[in-house]
Amino acid sequence: MRQQLLEIFHRRHACHLFQADQALSRADLDYILEAGRLSPSSFGLEQWKFLVLTSAQDKQAMQEACFNQPQVGSASALVVILAKIAELHPDAPYLQALLAREYPGAAYAPALANYRGFYGAVDVPAWSVTQCHIAAANMMTAASAIGIDSCPIGGFVAEAVRQQLDIDPSRHEVALVLAFGVCADAPPTKQRLPLSDLVEHR
Ligand SMILES: Cc1cc2nc3c(=O)[nH]c(=O)nc-3n(C[C@H](O)[C@H](O)[C@H](O)COP(=O)(O)O)c2cc1C
Repeated sequence: MRQQLLEIFHRRHACHLFQADQALSRADLDYILEAGRLSPSSFGLEQWKFLVLTSAQDKQAMQEACFNQPQVGSASALVVILAKIAELHPDAPYLQALLAREYPGAAYAPALANYRGFYGAVDVPAWSVTQCHIAAANMMTAASAIGIDSCPIGGFVAEAVRQQLDIDPSRHEVALVLAFGVCADAPPTKQRLPLSDLVEHR
């Protein structure tokens, strides 16, 4: 398991062109989405919504909204991760239901008071997007584990994506587009700095 997981991380790479004729099975797609669903989130608020696009028309329109990156149009499926905004307001029923789940009974009232303070102090859309990125990483790792390639796409024009998908900007921020499929190119050699450059043991 120890070694297998590292191999899964090594196998995942940002694919820049997919084999457009390959379909992603519903079972594989659900497996990937389940990894997103099980991800950790701040206050347990599951700040994400996953929009799945598989039609050629939707993928082509999204490619245009993503600076014409060919991995978007050639992917078997796109998962557009939307970050919740309006539902995170302290008075929103969604927020209160999930906070009560995380902090049941007597813990709820102080947790809500604490959350109100937090909500007023942070950039809520940016904070929400960071949670979505954790789900994205887990989905790409899960895809790699079942032999599916991926590419995270942060290069998009948010307004164009919102228009294409009819997203209300007061409700959702576009966090990331994930492209999944079978890569047409051979994976490049992994390039990473050594741990000695990244880690300081104190
Ligand atoms: C948040 C985020 C946004 C990214 N956006 C793009 C993108 O728009 N297009 C692209 O080709 N790669 C994109 N990437 C992929 C990175 O370029 C890639 O992960 C990095 O170069 C390391 O290569 P590897 O993933 O193949 O190991 C993005 C990665 C992240 C984490």
